[in-house]
Amino acid sequence: MPQKIALERPILPEFVNFPICLAPMVGLSHVSLRQLVRHYLPEGARTIWPTEMLNSRRLPHERLGQTPETFRSREDADIVPQILGNHPDEIKKSVTKLEEWGIAGVDINMGCPVKKALKHNYGVALMGDPEYAADVVKMAKNSTSKPVSVKLRVGTQNDENFLVQFAQGLQSAGADWITLHPRTAEQKRRGKADWNQIRKLRQELSIPVIGNGDVQTSEDAKRLLEETQCDMVMVGRALTARPWLLWQLGEDWGWPAPQGREEQKAPRTAEEEGREFGLAQVLFLKSLMQFYPESLGLRRFRFFVTNSHQWLEFGHSYFKCIQKATTYEEMLMAVETFFAQSKRMSQRTDLRY
Ligand SMILES: Cc1cc2nc3c(=O)[nH]c(=O)nc-3n(C[C@H](O)[C@H](O)[C@H](O)COP(=O)(O)O)c2cc1C
Repeated sequence: MPQKIALERPILPEFVNFPICLAPMVGLSHVSLRQLVRHYLPEGARTIWPTEMLNSRRLPHERLGQTPETFRSREDADIVPQILGNHPDEIKKSVTKLEEWGIAGVDINMGCPVKKALKHNYGVALMGDPEYAADVVKMAKNSTSKPVSVKLRVGTQNDENFLVQFAQGLQSAGADWITLHPRTAEQKRRGKADWNQIRKLRQELSIPVIGNGDVQTSEDAKRLLEETQCDMVMVGRALTARPWLLWQLGEDWGWPAPQGREEQKAPRTAEEEGREFGLAQVLFLKSLMQFYPESLGLRRFRFFVTNSHQWLEFGHSYFKCIQKATTYEEMLMAVETFFAQSKRMSQRTDLRY
């Protein structure tokens, strides 16, 4: 029997019993990455799944499930799509439409630091207006019976007190949980995520807090849970390279192996991880082939490799070798040929992307 992780403050939706989830990432957290990461989820474990960020201005006019950002597989039941926006009507229409489509909850982006977001007052710009940000949560809550969460950065400055007050405002507005990526808007993804801010927020809020930022290994994930007492850990970039991090953690916590990998142990050594890296690249590519037209799928594959190759020893030669392929068939051949010889994977990289 799996050892159920006792979530001190259960994340809503209540089916969640495994305290690790994938981060929303534009160009990455689509149906194929979800499929790849789910391949390594211990049997019986359930968590929440993101989408790429969806623009609430466009969403009401789109056919969900027909756009590259909303392609969805049969297993994609527990998704919590992330929306970006600030306009009441657009948020209402988007959330209603998503609920009809079938979701486990909806996440509001208040962390996007790009110039366009600042100019149009959404993403992290909402942190500049706590009252309005709380209203955005209320608008979403009024439009759905599903849980509503918010993903935050620490804001535009490194001000702990501001962060706590801001998040308390969202809590009072009805947010069901908060995810914190503790970098300022200006830092983008540079520098180091300050986990102290996750600990602080967890102490000050009564709703669950998901901690995020710079987790690269299963040991990092355990350390983030222990040091901050956060309720769950969200992992982004490292899951493009080490999706079996879920399997490693499950094994450490007494869960069974993922379906189809029964009787096997999670890869741990540099050689074992190097081998699994090659398998995961092929799985991901084959999933893209199933869902995406060729040119779009190849673009997405290259972007995935841009992120994941950094954990591979001599990964730049892999990155180079996949640039020439112009068809799915050529890409598959290039990947399989590259990994025909054993490769090693690093524990850590300096997280440049
Ligand atoms: C390519 C890329 C795209 C991202 N897009 C989003 C996004 O759309 N919404 C969001 O909330 N965060 C986005 N992020 C931030 C991640 O969700 C996460 O907060 C950040 O990468 C830190 O976590 P990590 O160190 O585990 O990668 C993005 C990150 C990357 C690398």
